[in-house]
Amino acid sequence: MNVTDDKTIVKEYFNSTGFDRWRRIYGDGEVNKVQLDIRTGHQQTVETVLSWLKADNNLAGLSICDAGCGTGSLSIPLAEAGAKVYASDISEKMVGEAKEKASQILANAENPTFAVQDLETISGSYHTVICLDVLIHYPQHKADEMISHLCSSAQSRIILSFAPKTFALSLLKKIGSFFPGASKATRAYLHREADVVKILAKNGFSVQRQSMTRTRFYFSRLLEATRQ
Ligand SMILES: C[S@@+](CC[C@H](N)C(=O)[O-])C[C@H]1O[C@@H](n2cnc3c(N)ncnc32)[C@H](O)[C@@H]1O
Repeated sequence: MNVTDDKTIVKEYFNSTGFDRWRRIYGDGEVNKVQLDIRTGHQQTVETVLSWLKADNNLAGLSICDAGCGTGSLSIPLAEAGAKVYASDISEKMVGEAKEKASQILANAENPTFAVQDLETISGSYHTVICLDVLIHYPQHKADEMISHLCSSAQSRIILSFAPKTFALSLLKKIGSFFPGASKATRAYLHREADVVKILAKNGFSVQRQSMTRTRFYFSRLLEATRQ
């Protein structure tokens, strides 16, 4: 499978069966046990990012790019906390759901700003660029290009998460739970932390804070790196 295929498949998946599945997982309605476990793990990752940013005491007015924003799980609370958020996603459906949620929760319809966009075409410049649980859809060489592009848009900081290769066996065993049935065609890629740190360093960033969220069906390594 080549890189274009990966991107096309991911986009189609998150505009169809993936949209239905992940909208439920990221929502608050009833879900099955596996989905509940993934929801819990993902919420932990989001909470960790929010706690890091709030601890810095400079969130109000901070420009943040949420690349691959999904249904707005991070963008919406960031906007609520006063950050100026630019949120984008390759899936029109995910962006539509994020917009809908934001309109129900937030008073200001202008923040976050939402766009349907491949993260590799993001052209603005932001204090902080965040990319959560997106790299799992791409092989390492493609993830390298994506991370480099995101770094070029980050003035000071980049925060990203990925499924670490050390958990390969356990994760691969559970891939069927991530992408059941026909959508199994969507591959899940694991990344070596050393490779991620290396590409961050190549772009002038070094790791400051790190965290690991691990539940039965959800594994996510989170790194915050700042420009040196
Ligand atoms: C597992 S979801 C994570 C969503 C969100 N970051 C979160 O943590 O709640 C992955 C998201 O990445 C998006 N995505 C995948 N490839 C992308 C790309 N090349 N550019 C932008 N978004 C992408 C998908 O459409 C999907 O919404």
